[in-house]
Amino acid sequence: MRLKGKTAIITGAGSGIGAATAERFAAEGARLVLNDLNAADLTRTLTTIGGSGHERVGGDVSQEATAERLVATACKQFGGIDVLVNNAGIHFIRDITETSSEDWDGVMAVNLKSMFLCSKHAIPEMVKQGSGSIVNLASISSFVGQEMEGQSTYLYNVTKAGAQQLAVSLATRYAADGVRVNAVCPGATRTGQIRHENPNRSGEAEAAIWEGAGGVTPLGRVAKPSEIAAAILFLASDESSFVTGSSLVVDGGYLAR
Ligand SMILES: NC(=O)c1ccc[n+]([C@@H]2O[C@H](COP(=O)([O-])OP(=O)(O)OC[C@H]3O[C@@H](n4cnc5c(N)ncnc54)[C@H](O)[C@@H]3O)[C@@H](O)[C@H]2O)c1
Repeated sequence: MRLKGKTAIITGAGSGIGAATAERFAAEGARLVLNDLNAADLTRTLTTIGGSGHERVGGDVSQEATAERLVATACKQFGGIDVLVNNAGIHFIRDITETSSEDWDGVMAVNLKSMFLCSKHAIPEMVKQGSGSIVNLASISSFVGQEMEGQSTYLYNVTKAGAQQLAVSLATRYAADGVRVNAVCPGATRTGQIRHENPNRSGEAEAAIWEGAGGVTPLGRVAKPSEIAAAILFLASDESSFVTGSSLVVDGGYLAR
């Protein structure tokens, strides 16, 4: 029960890493305020974790009103906020020459502005109570250039570099206030991310992407969402009490090559 008595907000908790983190946090005793754009998926996560004693705040987390509601709900229902997991995100595969301004703004908003907004509203509450832990979902993509299906994932990678840097900058600024901020950098993790990026891609094409990703990973496979949730749990809990501004790479050795 490593999160017993703690309140955690998790964005994008309807599927993949966010859903696995909600399951793990609930099992470790946390009271959760869960967000996702997809109401049906969010309901499924709440059903899986047993629903009662947790709160939901649906909606687009790149909108400031959603971030405000998340924090207000945690404070009103549970008296404060101990953990914020900035997890919601979308993948994007397209060369820069094929990217519209709207694409750029949209991916930046979901992947990075959402982290800015949730952190902006959560930090004052954490400072008030003198403690808190924020975990940003960055990626191996924060550190390298990557291509998939013949095109670049540069825009996704830029947002993930931003997620990592946001963690570092907030960590030094709020350390004296007792607020720790870290990034988790997963390698390829089998979730709905690729399907959500392009629902028209065939099952075979999606399988080829996962197979290719496993093939370039020294451990020879992609991660399970629960393996990323375990790292998020470590950074969220008091077991990482002397860890701030760090980037925990959970990638089966991908970046070590
Ligand atoms: N799967 C991977 O290989 C991998 C690797 C590194 C990092 N990540 C990061 O992990 C995080 C979780 O991704 P995942 O792989 O579980 O993908 P996923 O698509 O399974 O889950 C993302 C969730 O975020 C939700 N979401 C999307 N836009 C939203 C918005 N505007 N507001 C609220 N919710 C929104 C989606 O509905 C979905 O439930 C993302 O930040 C992703 O970039 C994933």
